Amino acid sequence: MPLPWKSGLTPLMLAPMQGLTNRALRSVYAETVKPDVLFTEFVRVRPKAKVMVAQSDFTEALATSPGIPLIVQVIGSADEGVVAATRELVERGVEHINVNMGCPWGRMTSVLSGGGMFRSPKTVEPMLRELRTIVPGSLSVKTRTGLDDERELFEILPAFESAGIDFLAVHSRTVSQKYKGSANHAITQEIVERTSLPVIANGDIRNAAQASKVLSQTGASGLMLGRGAIADPRLFDRIRGTADAQPESSVRKREMASHLLRLLRGYSELFCGEAQILAKLRETFVHFTTPDLRRWGRKLGKRKLLSGVAEMLEEAAS
Ligand SMILES: Cc1cc2nc3c(=O)[nH]c(=O)nc-3n(C[C@H](O)[C@H](O)[C@H](O)COP(=O)(O)O)c2cc1C
Repeated sequence: MPLPWKSGLTPLMLAPMQGLTNRALRSVYAETVKPDVLFTEFVRVRPKAKVMVAQSDFTEALATSPGIPLIVQVIGSADEGVVAATRELVERGVEHINVNMGCPWGRMTSVLSGGGMFRSPKTVEPMLRELRTIVPGSLSVKTRTGLDDERELFEILPAFESAGIDFLAVHSRTVSQKYKGSANHAITQEIVERTSLPVIANGDIRNAAQASKVLSQTGASGLMLGRGAIADPRLFDRIRGTADAQPESSVRKREMASHLLRLLRGYSELFCGEAQILAKLRETFVHFTTPDLRRWGRKLGKRKLLSGVAEMLEEAAS
């Protein structure tokens, strides 16, 4: 199956992030920094519903951006109907599917879905084999290195290969680690060495220097950028060498202000009501990392009216 990126390219992907990578945000990134691959937020399988995928998830899954492959991520357990839900998505025109095998939150770890799939590795291969027969485009898995032990993934690697998936995205932390500590890219390197599948490295890549270090250390086929790309959308350009790798704080703030103005316009079309739009926008501020931007983010977050936020953004963007 052809990969969802051009041969010879080291793709930079925008990670799936629940609450963030909705169609409005994806479209801003697609129009500006053009990630090589986009992901939806996870689509949760609804095992007891007549239609397993919610209408709002169909809408998200079909909102592609011209020229950029959109991978729809599905979360659920093998016996909860991941295959049936994927069939529904494919029937509506979805091309690329990714299975979430890493979510560390709530229900996902107590049942056999998300990171909980590590509790029942035997169910993984038959599920992926079935998915392979129905997914017309690429089939991939996004995973962590294990549930509690960062070597658990090595036991499942052969199943990924024999089921015929196309690539693997690895956030090199364990599920139980959640976001503590740091991503262990020495393990990413070992995974790359031990599988024939293209591996996309993910975790704690926040600047161009880290990106280049992870690529050279691991030999990964590409990178997936999450929080770093929310904190600095131009991270894609910095890694590609088309924007300053270490811009001054004032430049970062100006760039971020114009990005947030675009996002504000997109969110105003997608979400309903001032409170919801502001709440969605605030979800991006919490990822700011530099002291200046954090301070500014806190000030933005205190504005109660959209007009007040827009005014601050217009001022900072000019
Ligand atoms: C707010 C938030 C929501 C996330 N939602 C998802 C999700 O829906 N699916 C998924 O596979 N990973 C999800 N993740 C994990 C990210 O895709 C990524 O693996 C993780 O943040 C590590 O990469 P980073 O250090 O570049 O952020 C989420 C992470 C964050 C911070």
